[in-house]
Amino acid sequence: MSPRYAHITGWGMSIPKKILTNKDLEKIVDTNDEWIVSRTGIRERRIAGANDTTASLASEAALQALEVANLHPSDLDLIIVSTSSPDYIFPATACLVQDQIGAVRAGAFDLLAACTGFVYGVNLGAQAIKSNSANNVLVIGSETLSRIVNWKDRNTCILFGDGAGAFVIQASEEPGGVISAVLRSDGSGADLLSVPASGSRHPASMQTLYDGLHYIQMNGREVFRFATRVMAEASQQAVEAAHLTMDDIQIVIPHQANSRIIEAAARGLDIPMERVMMNLDRYGNTSTASIPIATIEAVQTERLNPGDKTVMVAFGSGLTWGAVLVEWTGPLPSQGKVRPRQVRWTARTRSALARLRRRIDGFIWGNG
Ligand code: ACO
Repeated sequence: MSPRYAHITGWGMSIPKKILTNKDLEKIVDTNDEWIVSRTGIRERRIAGANDTTASLASEAALQALEVANLHPSDLDLIIVSTSSPDYIFPATACLVQDQIGAVRAGAFDLLAACTGFVYGVNLGAQAIKSNSANNVLVIGSETLSRIVNWKDRNTCILFGDGAGAFVIQASEEPGGVISAVLRSDGSGADLLSVPASGSRHPASMQTLYDGLHYIQMNGREVFRFATRVMAEASQQAVEAAHLTMDDIQIVIPHQANSRIIEAAARGLDIPMERVMMNLDRYGNTSTASIPIATIEAVQTERLNPGDKTVMVAFGSGLTWGAVLVEWTGPLPSQGKVRPRQVRWTARTRSALARLRRRIDGFIWGNG
């Protein structure tokens, strides 16, 4: 059998309409624009509207990505949603997306590796293709962190934003696509960045609510130190695993957490900032969505072009970190025009009919 390669053939993003600027934050907590910009590089972020959820943002990004790839949702074999702010603890947000976009043949699961999740997801999706167990994989990073941020905590609420980004990854015999990856973790730092309550350690109670344990808790200085250490190291390891050097890489796309962390990574890799993508000034830290959103903007501004090699590198809660090296390609040749968006209505009808059938079954068999 000839070798299979895993190409990124479609991409899409969805960001909520509402913009929250640093000036707006000055009215909420004791902070100021100058502090936020100088310490983080962030000027504004997007905040999910009342009807937005992690799944709805993810589905919108997914449909865009399928449109770029010219792929019908029913051709998807696997959907991986990376998120730290799922719609529910279970079911998986990926299953909600599967239903919303009508991906009737796809398996679906969530992946939790915090801000590194998209890097993990791209590698897992590519491995599923390379091992011949899938042809078409959808990887989504989606977050509504504004729902789990403590809007009274100036240490965290200034950092995060909402949004989603998606890649379609497809099998091809043409060399290129996802070339190498490095995935790492260190759970001894689990307490540095967490949402302590809602899981089995601290089930929801009046006390957990009172103590604010359902919000993001972070030791900013420790996370900062860890991030500046691992970003350059992981990028370098992914490059070495591909038997390349940094000179072969046209652009590095880092997790968009803090401009000082990104600049430190660039120094560590000895590359100028022109070869590093940064758009956190407009979106803040969208966690696992930040890499796909930054990648799409790099494509739109022609900083990432077919044939270019890029390293996507991230760190996050867990602690987790990792990097994936990709030769950028674009849509595979295909015939006809697929309009995944039009399938959405069919998907809604199918979903409603499936629910109705379950109710009728329950009525007939006495479980309704
Ligand atoms: N406005 C004004 N002052 C503030 C604010 C604010 N929003 N937040 C903190 N300060 C104050 C602090 O109280 C402190 O005052 P003090 O010296 O009187 O105690 C002072 O500013 C300095 O605080 P530091 O925490 O030392 O500030 P630092 O330079 O470390 O910047 C920051 C803080 C931006 C959070 C930084 O540590 C950082 O970016 N850390 C990494 C965080 C991160 O990336 N998290 C996401 C990880 S990805 C994921 O998995 C979700």
